[in-house]
Amino acid sequence: MQRARLHYGHGTDNAADDAAALLAFVLGLDRPLREADLSRRVSQAREQTFSALLKRRIAERVPVVYLTGRCWFAGVPFFVDQRVLVPRSPIAELIEARFSPWVDPERVRRVLDVGTGSGCIALASALAFPSARVDAVDISADALEVARVNRRQLGLSHRVRLLRSSYFEALKGRRYDIIVSNPPYVGAAEMRGLPAEYRHEPELGLASGRDGMDAVRVLLREAASHLAPSGVLVVEVGNTEAMVRRRFPRLPFVWLQFQRGGGGVFVLTAEQLARAAGE
Ligand SMILES: C[S@@+](CC[C@H](N)C(=O)[O-])C[C@H]1O[C@@H](n2cnc3c(N)ncnc32)[C@H](O)[C@@H]1O
Repeated sequence: MQRARLHYGHGTDNAADDAAALLAFVLGLDRPLREADLSRRVSQAREQTFSALLKRRIAERVPVVYLTGRCWFAGVPFFVDQRVLVPRSPIAELIEARFSPWVDPERVRRVLDVGTGSGCIALASALAFPSARVDAVDISADALEVARVNRRQLGLSHRVRLLRSSYFEALKGRRYDIIVSNPPYVGAAEMRGLPAEYRHEPELGLASGRDGMDAVRVLLREAASHLAPSGVLVVEVGNTEAMVRRRFPRLPFVWLQFQRGGGGVFVLTAEQLARAAGE
Protein backbone atom coordinates (compact mmCIF):
# COMPACT_ATOMS: atom_id res chain seq x y z
CA MET A 1 0.00 0.00 0.00
CA GLN A 2 2.84 2.37 0.80
CA ARG A 3 4.57 1.65 -2.50
CA ALA A 4 1.33 2.39 -4.34
CA ARG A 5 1.17 5.86 -2.71
CA LEU A 6 -2.49 5.57 -1.80
CA HIS A 7 -4.31 8.54 -0.33
CA TYR A 8 -5.72 8.17 3.21
CA GLY A 9 -8.50 10.51 4.21
CA HIS A 10 -11.61 8.39 4.55
CA GLY A 11 -11.63 7.58 8.23
CA THR A 12 -7.95 6.60 8.56
CA ASP A 13 -4.74 8.48 7.84
CA ASN A 14 -2.27 5.66 7.22
CA ALA A 15 -1.79 2.30 5.51
CA ALA A 16 -1.73 0.21 8.70
CA ASP A 17 -5.14 1.43 9.90
CA ASP A 18 -6.61 1.00 6.42
CA ALA A 19 -5.32 -2.59 6.26
CA ALA A 20 -6.57 -3.27 9.80
CA ALA A 21 -10.10 -2.16 8.87
CA LEU A 22 -10.02 -4.45 5.85
CA LEU A 23 -8.73 -7.37 7.92
CA ALA A 24 -11.35 -6.89 10.66
CA PHE A 25 -14.01 -7.08 7.96
CA VAL A 26 -12.55 -10.23 6.37
CA LEU A 27 -12.28 -11.88 9.80
CA GLY A 28 -15.97 -11.18 10.34
CA LEU A 29 -15.41 -8.97 13.38
CA ASP A 30 -18.12 -6.50 14.30
CA ARG A 31 -15.57 -4.24 15.96
CA PRO A 32 -12.19 -2.72 15.08
CA LEU A 33 -9.17 -5.05 14.89
CA ARG A 34 -7.20 -5.62 18.12
CA GLU A 35 -3.57 -6.64 18.64
CA ALA A 36 -4.65 -10.14 19.77
CA ASP A 37 -6.45 -10.74 16.45
CA LEU A 38 -3.11 -10.68 14.65
CA SER A 39 -2.12 -14.09 16.07
CA ARG A 40 -5.29 -15.78 14.74
CA ARG A 41 -5.06 -18.34 11.98
CA VAL A 42 -7.04 -17.49 8.86
CA SER A 43 -8.50 -19.84 6.28
CA GLN A 44 -7.25 -19.79 2.72
CA ALA A 45 -10.63 -18.48 1.58
CA ARG A 46 -10.36 -15.48 3.90
CA GLU A 47 -6.79 -14.85 2.82
CA GLN A 48 -7.93 -14.79 -0.79
CA THR A 49 -10.79 -12.41 -0.01
CA PHE A 50 -8.36 -10.11 1.80
CA SER A 51 -5.94 -10.14 -1.15
CA ALA A 52 -8.72 -9.43 -3.63
CA LEU A 53 -9.99 -6.45 -1.62
CA LEU A 54 -6.48 -5.13 -1.14
CA LYS A 55 -5.93 -5.32 -4.89
CA ARG A 56 -9.07 -3.24 -5.49
CA ARG A 57 -8.00 -0.72 -2.84
CA ILE A 58 -4.72 -0.30 -4.72
CA ALA A 59 -5.69 -0.67 -8.39
CA GLU A 60 -8.99 1.26 -8.27
CA ARG A 61 -8.18 3.56 -5.32
CA VAL A 62 -11.48 2.56 -3.65
CA PRO A 63 -11.67 3.80 -0.03
CA VAL A 64 -11.75 0.85 2.39
CA VAL A 65 -15.19 1.77 3.73
CA TYR A 66 -16.73 1.24 0.28
CA LEU A 67 -15.04 -2.16 0.08
CA THR A 68 -16.38 -3.29 3.45
CA GLY A 69 -19.72 -1.43 3.29
CA ARG A 70 -19.50 -0.41 6.91
CA CYS A 71 -17.91 1.98 9.36
CA TRP A 72 -18.24 3.35 12.87
CA PHE A 73 -19.14 6.94 13.58
CA ALA A 74 -19.33 8.26 17.17
CA GLY A 75 -19.12 4.61 18.21
CA VAL A 76 -22.22 3.69 16.17
CA PRO A 77 -22.09 1.17 13.27
CA PHE A 78 -23.26 2.44 9.86
CA PHE A 79 -23.89 0.84 6.48
CA VAL A 80 -22.22 2.85 3.70
CA ASP A 81 -21.95 2.59 -0.08
CA GLN A 82 -20.98 4.90 -2.93
CA ARG A 83 -24.31 6.76 -2.80
CA VAL A 84 -23.04 8.60 0.29
CA LEU A 85 -19.90 10.31 1.49
CA VAL A 86 -17.69 8.20 3.78
CA PRO A 87 -18.52 9.34 7.36
CA ARG A 88 -15.46 11.00 8.88
CA SER A 89 -16.56 14.33 10.34
CA PRO A 90 -14.88 15.42 13.59
CA ILE A 91 -18.42 16.42 14.64
CA ALA A 92 -18.57 12.79 15.91
CA GLU A 93 -16.61 13.93 18.98
CA LEU A 94 -19.06 16.73 19.65
CA ILE A 95 -21.96 14.28 19.44
CA GLU A 96 -20.21 11.98 21.93
CA ALA A 97 -19.95 15.02 24.24
CA ARG A 98 -23.69 15.71 23.65
CA PHE A 99 -22.78 19.13 22.16
CA SER A 100 -21.69 20.24 25.60
CA PRO A 101 -20.99 23.02 26.62
CA TRP A 102 -22.84 24.66 23.73
CA VAL A 103 -26.27 23.41 24.78
CA ASP A 104 -27.78 21.99 27.94
CA PRO A 105 -28.05 18.34 26.82
CA GLU A 106 -31.06 17.71 29.07
CA ARG A 107 -33.05 20.40 27.28
CA VAL A 108 -32.43 19.34 23.70
CA ARG A 109 -35.74 18.35 22.10
CA ARG A 110 -35.29 19.06 18.40
CA VAL A 111 -32.23 18.56 16.21
CA LEU A 112 -31.78 19.19 12.48
CA ASP A 113 -29.00 17.69 10.32
CA VAL A 114 -28.62 19.46 6.96
CA GLY A 115 -27.04 17.26 4.24
CA THR A 116 -27.37 14.03 6.15
CA GLY A 117 -25.77 11.62 3.63
CA SER A 118 -25.61 8.21 5.35
CA GLY A 119 -27.53 9.73 8.28
CA CYS A 120 -24.46 9.37 10.52
CA ILE A 121 -24.72 12.76 12.26
CA ALA A 122 -28.53 12.68 12.59
CA LEU A 123 -28.74 9.10 13.85
CA ALA A 124 -25.79 9.32 16.25
CA SER A 125 -27.34 12.55 17.60
CA ALA A 126 -30.67 10.79 18.10
CA LEU A 127 -28.87 8.15 20.18
CA ALA A 128 -27.05 10.87 22.15
CA PHE A 129 -30.33 12.65 22.94
CA PRO A 130 -32.88 9.91 23.70
CA SER A 131 -35.75 12.35 24.26
CA ALA A 132 -35.14 14.42 21.12
CA ARG A 133 -36.74 14.28 17.70
CA VAL A 134 -34.36 14.62 14.78
CA ASP A 135 -35.04 15.90 11.25
CA ALA A 136 -32.46 15.01 8.59
CA VAL A 137 -32.55 16.53 5.11
CA ASP A 138 -30.64 15.81 1.94
CA ILE A 139 -31.11 16.87 -1.67
CA SER A 140 -30.00 13.40 -2.84
CA ALA A 141 -32.68 10.70 -3.01
CA ASP A 142 -29.89 8.12 -3.27
CA ALA A 143 -28.32 9.29 -0.02
CA LEU A 144 -31.68 9.21 1.74
CA GLU A 145 -32.08 5.54 0.79
CA VAL A 146 -28.83 4.73 2.58
CA ALA A 147 -29.89 6.85 5.58
CA ARG A 148 -33.17 4.90 5.65
CA VAL A 149 -31.30 1.58 5.91
CA ASN A 150 -29.25 2.95 8.82
CA ARG A 151 -32.32 4.39 10.53
CA ARG A 152 -34.02 0.99 10.37
CA GLN A 153 -30.93 -0.90 11.56
CA LEU A 154 -30.59 1.42 14.55
CA GLY A 155 -34.30 1.23 15.40
CA LEU A 156 -34.77 5.00 15.14
CA SER A 157 -37.66 5.26 12.67
CA HIS A 158 -39.98 6.67 15.35
CA ARG A 159 -37.70 9.63 16.24
CA VAL A 160 -35.79 10.49 13.07
CA ARG A 161 -37.51 12.00 10.01
CA LEU A 162 -35.71 11.83 6.67
CA LEU A 163 -36.76 14.50 4.21
CA ARG A 164 -35.72 15.28 0.67
CA SER A 165 -35.04 18.98 0.75
CA SER A 166 -32.58 21.53 -0.53
CA TYR A 167 -31.34 23.06 2.72
CA PHE A 168 -34.37 24.37 4.69
CA GLU A 169 -36.93 24.29 1.85
CA ALA A 170 -39.12 21.54 3.32
CA LEU A 171 -38.83 22.91 6.86
CA LYS A 172 -40.89 26.10 6.76
CA GLY A 173 -41.76 27.32 10.26
CA ARG A 174 -39.72 24.62 12.05
CA ARG A 175 -37.24 25.53 14.78
CA TYR A 176 -34.48 23.50 16.40
CA ASP A 177 -32.28 23.51 19.51
CA ILE A 178 -29.35 22.31 17.39
CA ILE A 179 -28.81 22.72 13.65
CA VAL A 180 -25.78 20.70 12.64
CA SER A 181 -24.32 20.33 9.17
CA ASN A 182 -21.35 18.85 7.39
CA PRO A 183 -22.22 20.34 4.00
CA PRO A 184 -20.20 20.13 0.78
CA TYR A 185 -17.33 22.64 0.90
CA VAL A 186 -14.85 21.87 -1.89
CA GLY A 187 -14.19 24.64 -4.45
CA ALA A 188 -14.03 24.03 -8.22
CA ALA A 189 -10.23 24.22 -8.52
CA GLU A 190 -9.69 21.92 -5.56
CA MET A 191 -12.26 19.45 -6.97
CA ARG A 192 -10.12 19.07 -10.09
CA GLY A 193 -7.03 18.21 -8.03
CA LEU A 194 -8.57 15.72 -5.56
CA PRO A 195 -6.83 12.32 -5.19
CA ALA A 196 -8.48 9.42 -7.05
CA GLU A 197 -10.08 8.05 -3.84
CA TYR A 198 -12.49 11.01 -3.77
CA ARG A 199 -13.80 10.22 -7.28
CA HIS A 200 -15.63 7.24 -5.72
CA GLU A 201 -17.66 9.63 -3.56
CA PRO A 202 -20.79 11.45 -4.81
CA GLU A 203 -19.86 14.86 -6.22
CA LEU A 204 -22.95 16.31 -4.50
CA GLY A 205 -21.30 15.54 -1.17
CA LEU A 206 -18.12 17.45 -1.98
CA ALA A 207 -18.56 20.25 -4.54
CA SER A 208 -19.97 23.59 -3.42
CA GLY A 209 -19.61 26.14 -6.19
CA ARG A 210 -16.59 28.05 -7.41
CA ASP A 211 -15.14 28.92 -4.00
CA GLY A 212 -16.56 25.97 -2.02
CA MET A 213 -18.74 28.31 0.03
CA ASP A 214 -22.18 28.01 -1.64
CA ALA A 215 -23.56 25.80 1.14
CA VAL A 216 -22.13 27.70 4.10
CA ARG A 217 -23.52 30.97 2.69
CA VAL A 218 -27.05 29.48 2.67
CA LEU A 219 -26.64 28.04 6.17
CA LEU A 220 -25.43 31.37 7.59
CA ARG A 221 -28.23 33.26 5.86
CA GLU A 222 -31.12 30.98 6.76
CA ALA A 223 -30.28 29.11 9.97
CA ALA A 224 -31.37 31.96 12.30
CA SER A 225 -35.00 31.64 11.24
CA HIS A 226 -34.94 27.91 12.12
CA LEU A 227 -33.22 28.11 15.51
CA ALA A 228 -34.93 28.18 18.92
CA PRO A 229 -33.96 31.24 21.02
CA SER A 230 -31.19 29.34 22.87
CA GLY A 231 -30.31 27.22 19.82
CA VAL A 232 -26.91 26.75 18.19
CA LEU A 233 -25.63 26.26 14.66
CA VAL A 234 -22.70 23.86 14.21
CA VAL A 235 -21.12 23.64 10.76
CA GLU A 236 -18.05 21.89 9.34
CA VAL A 237 -16.32 23.90 6.62
CA GLY A 238 -12.95 22.08 6.69
CA ASN A 239 -10.14 23.88 4.95
CA THR A 240 -12.39 26.74 3.81
CA GLU A 241 -12.18 27.98 7.43
CA ALA A 242 -9.78 30.81 6.55
CA MET A 243 -12.01 32.01 3.72
CA VAL A 244 -15.14 31.82 5.89
CA ARG A 245 -13.41 33.95 8.56
CA ARG A 246 -12.43 36.52 5.91
CA ARG A 247 -15.81 36.71 4.19
CA PHE A 248 -17.82 36.99 7.41
CA PRO A 249 -15.63 39.24 9.60
CA ARG A 250 -18.51 40.36 11.82
CA LEU A 251 -19.63 36.86 12.86
CA PRO A 252 -18.06 35.78 16.21
CA PHE A 253 -17.33 32.18 15.17
CA VAL A 254 -16.00 29.80 17.81
CA TRP A 255 -13.75 27.26 16.05
CA LEU A 256 -13.70 23.89 17.83
CA GLN A 257 -10.65 21.80 18.62
CA PHE A 258 -10.85 18.01 18.53
CA GLN A 259 -8.87 15.38 20.41
CA ARG A 260 -8.89 12.90 17.53
CA GLY A 261 -7.86 15.45 14.88
CA GLY A 262 -9.68 17.40 12.19
CA GLY A 263 -10.97 20.92 12.46
CA GLY A 264 -12.77 23.63 10.51
CA VAL A 265 -15.95 23.31 12.60
CA PHE A 266 -17.62 26.42 13.99
CA VAL A 267 -20.37 27.12 16.49
CA LEU A 268 -22.63 30.18 16.47
CA THR A 269 -25.57 30.84 18.75
CA ALA A 270 -29.01 31.90 17.52
CA GLU A 271 -28.47 35.20 19.30
CA GLN A 272 -25.17 35.86 17.52
CA LEU A 273 -26.71 35.06 14.13
CA ALA A 274 -29.72 37.28 14.79
CA ARG A 275 -27.52 40.15 15.99
CA ALA A 276 -25.30 39.91 12.90
CA ALA A 277 -28.39 39.93 10.63
CA GLY A 278 -29.63 43.12 12.33
CA GLU A 279 -26.33 44.99 12.05
C1 LIG B 1 -20.16 16.39 2.99
S1 LIG B 1 -21.61 15.37 2.72
C2 LIG B 1 -21.97 14.97 4.43
C3 LIG B 1 -22.78 13.74 4.66
C4 LIG B 1 -22.91 13.36 6.13
N1 LIG B 1 -23.60 14.40 6.87
C5 LIG B 1 -21.56 13.09 6.76
O1 LIG B 1 -21.10 13.89 7.59
O2 LIG B 1 -20.93 12.07 6.40
C6 LIG B 1 -22.79 16.60 2.29
C7 LIG B 1 -24.21 16.12 2.02
O3 LIG B 1 -24.99 17.27 1.68
C8 LIG B 1 -25.90 16.92 0.66
N2 LIG B 1 -26.29 18.14 -0.06
C9 LIG B 1 -25.65 18.78 -1.07
N3 LIG B 1 -26.35 19.87 -1.45
C10 LIG B 1 -27.45 19.92 -0.66
C11 LIG B 1 -28.57 20.80 -0.58
N4 LIG B 1 -28.70 21.85 -1.40
N5 LIG B 1 -29.52 20.56 0.37
C12 LIG B 1 -29.41 19.49 1.18
N6 LIG B 1 -28.38 18.62 1.13
C13 LIG B 1 -27.42 18.82 0.24
C14 LIG B 1 -25.14 15.91 -0.19
O4 LIG B 1 -26.03 15.12 -0.94
C15 LIG B 1 -24.35 15.14 0.88
O5 LIG B 1 -25.08 14.01 1.31
